[in-house]
Parts: sequence; C-alpha cells; structure tokens
Amino acid sequence: MNQGKTVTANDALYSKNGMEKKQAKKKSSLQPTPQVLVSCRGLDGEDNALAVGYCGNCSYDPPMVMVGIVPTRYSYRLIKESGCFVVNLVSKDYRQTFDYLGSHSKRDGDKLAAMNVRLEDGKEVDAPILADCPVNIECTVVDSIVTGSHEMFIGKIEYVHADARLVDAEGNIDFSQIALL
Ligand SMILES: Cc1cc2nc3c(=O)[nH]c(=O)nc-3n(C[C@H](O)[C@H](O)[C@H](O)COP(=O)(O)O)c2cc1C
Repeated sequence: MNQGKTVTANDALYSKNGMEKKQAKKKSSLQPTPQVLVSCRGLDGEDNALAVGYCGNCSYDPPMVMVGIVPTRYSYRLIKESGCFVVNLVSKDYRQTFDYLGSHSKRDGDKLAAMNVRLEDGKEVDAPILADCPVNIECTVVDSIVTGSHEMFIGKIEYVHADARLVDAEGNIDFSQIALL
C-alpha cells in the first residue's frame, strides 16, 4: 500500500506488485461529483436554491441533464409543482454562498436573502437564475425516477446563459476559463 502518499497513474502502471485493492463503501463512491446550485420557484412565486452533487448530463440529443433531489428538501416540492429548475455552475469565489445554501433549509428562513443572492428571472422557465454564477441552465422536467434516497429529475435544457466573455461566435463556452468549485 502507498500509505500517506498520493497514488499516481504511473505508480499503478509501473509498481512491481500492482495496486492492492480492498473492499470499500458503496455509498457515493463515484467521485468527483459536480457541485452545482439548483434554483427553483414554487407556484406561489417563492424562490429557493440548494447545493446538489447528484447530477449530470444525461442526453445530448435532445440536450438534457438530471438532478437528484431528496424528497425532504424544501426545494423538492417547488420543483415537483413547477416542473422546472435551473442548474447553476459555481465558481470558486462563490464557495461561501454554495456552502450556506447547501447547509441551510428554506424551512428555517429565506437563505437567498441572508446571503444577498442576486436573482434574475429565467428566460424560458418560471424559475430564477443565480446572476453571479457564470453558467445557468434552464430546464423543464420531462420525467423523474425515484432511485432510492433521491428522485432524479430529468430536465430538458431550454436555454443556457453564459458569461459573455466565455462564449465564442458559435455559442461554445470556454469552460477552461471558469475556476469551477
Ligand atoms: C456538497 C453538497 C452536495 C449536496 N448534494 C445534494 C443532492 O445531490 N441532492 C439533495 O437533495 N441535497 C443535496 N445536498 C443537501 C442540500 O443542498 C441541503 O440539504 C439544503 O439545505 C437543502 O435546502 P432546502 O431544504 O432549502 O431545499 C448537498 C449539500 C452539499 C453541501
């Protein structure tokens, strides 16, 4: 074992005895996970956002993403009833807000107001985008699957906002310029 030492691909390839393996926990074993903020709006107009790690691309034609929400989250009902959400990519300088939104529930107070989160209305869906996040992906829920602890909401991408400095003439986003969390 390479105890206390970072294991590199080269170590694994060239070590004389190969890489020793032992059984590990199954839970959340796929790493790294994305760290995004999902924003949403209830039918009564209330806005909220939560940190989400269970998410990913799930189709490029048509373009879709999925987000996994635990039913006890305050945001769950808002997404369920509105049928839409926004995935906001988060840069490192937004870490404090990310941590706060991921550790406080709207049930206990308006966390967006507490962190002075700047909101703008979505263009295509009735949910807020987080104005200080460099990329905002507006989605309509087309399906959902209860996988166990989470309900995976499949979102058809309706509109993508990106910091204009990062977008070329064809609409490609230069992700290398964003210091994502
Ligand atoms: C790094 C990180 C990842 C998280 N991933 C998820 C997730 O994928 N799904 C989920 O439902 N909650 C996730 N959470 C927890 C929620 O963000 C958290 O419970 C939040 O307070 C819920 O807010 P709400 O009750 O206002 O909706 C995550 C939290 C953190 C810090």
